[in-house]
Amino acid sequence: MKKVLVTGGAGFVGSNLVRMLSEEYGCEVTVLDDLFTGRKDFLAGIEHELIVGSVLDTDLLEECMRGKDAVFHLAARNIIVSIERPREDMEVNIGGTFNVLETALKYGVEKVVYASTSSIYGNPRHLPISEDEPPSFLNFYSVSKYAGECYCRAFYEVYDLPVCVVRYSNVYGYNQSPENPYCGVVEKFLDKALQGEPLPVHGDGEQTRDFTFVEDACRATVLAALSPKSPGEVYNVGTGVETSVNKLAYTILSLVGKGGDIVRIDRRDIDNIRRRVLNVEKVRQHLKFFTSHTLEMGIKKTLDWHIGQARPEESS
Ligand SMILES: NC(=O)c1ccc[n+]([C@@H]2O[C@H](COP(=O)([O-])OP(=O)(O)OC[C@H]3O[C@@H](n4cnc5c(N)ncnc54)[C@H](O)[C@@H]3O)[C@@H](O)[C@H]2O)c1
Repeated sequence: MKKVLVTGGAGFVGSNLVRMLSEEYGCEVTVLDDLFTGRKDFLAGIEHELIVGSVLDTDLLEECMRGKDAVFHLAARNIIVSIERPREDMEVNIGGTFNVLETALKYGVEKVVYASTSSIYGNPRHLPISEDEPPSFLNFYSVSKYAGECYCRAFYEVYDLPVCVVRYSNVYGYNQSPENPYCGVVEKFLDKALQGEPLPVHGDGEQTRDFTFVEDACRATVLAALSPKSPGEVYNVGTGVETSVNKLAYTILSLVGKGGDIVRIDRRDIDNIRRRVLNVEKVRQHLKFFTSHTLEMGIKKTLDWHIGQARPEESS
C-alpha cells in the first residue's frame, strides 16, 4: 500500500486518515475532493497531492486512480444535503461510489475501502447492533450510503474487486468544524462549552450513541485496507460503548471546566434514533482492531486541539 487515493480526503475523517496514511504508514497520498465541506487547511503540514474535483468527473477520477494500490472512498454528501436536495445525495453518494468502484476495477487497484455509516440501521431491533441487522431507512442519506454498500458487494461478487465496507458510528475529533451544520453533537457541545454557553440537548437527553474518536476510526479503516481477510466484508467501526447525550454533555462540561449547564430543546427531527451502540466483535476478530480511546480521552485530545488549535500529534 504505497500509493493511495483518498476521496473526500479534505473532510473531517478524510483529513485525519490522510495524516495517518502519510505520517504513520509512509504512503504517497492523493486526495480527490470538491471542497464541498472539505477544507485545504485541514491538510496543512501533511505531505499529499490535492486534486480539487468531483467523484462524478470520471475522466478526473481515472487520472487520480492510475497507479494506485489502494483507494479509500469517503467522499459523500451529508444527511442534511440528503433532506434538502435528495437528488444531489443520490447522484454523489450512489453515482460517485459507482464511479469509484468501476474505475478501481479498470486500474486493478488492490484494495478499496468504502466508508459507510451506522445510520443505515435506523432504530435497530437488537442491541448492540451487529453487521447482520437488517437496514432500516429513515432518511435519503442512509438509502444512498447503503446503495453504495450494495454496489461494493456486487463489484466483489461479479468481478472479484477486493472491496470492503466500514460502517462508522458518530465519529468525533480534530478538524470537525462547528460551521459545518452536520459537524456532530460532540463538536457542537465543545463549541458551546468553550464559549461558556449552555449545551443544547434535544429531548430528554437519554438517547444514546456510540461515539468513536477519529484516530480510532481511521486506524480501523487502515487495518481494513491492509487485511487479507477484508474483501467482501462489512465491519462495524465503533467502541461498543453506549453513551447517552446527557452523559456526553456532562463529560464535556466537566472537562472544559467553565461551569455551565445544559438546556433542553425540542427533539431532533432528523437522525432521530433512540439508541445506538455497535457490536464490534467482528472488527476485533478479523482486523485485530481495538479502540485506544475512552470517551474522556478522545474528548480531552479534541479539547486540547481546540484550545491551542495544536496539530493532532502535538496534542496527543
Ligand atoms: N463523521 C461521522 O460521524 C461519520 C459517520 C458515519 C459515516 N461517515 C462517512 O464518512 C465519510 C466522511 O465523512 P465526514 O464526517 O468526514 O464528512 P465531511 O463532509 O467532512 O467529508 C466528506 C468529504 O467529501 C467531500 N465531497 C463531497 N462530495 C464530493 C464529491 N462529489 N467529490 C469529491 N469530494 C466530495 C467533501 O468536500 C468532504 O471533504 C462519509 O462518507 C460519511 O458518509 C461519517
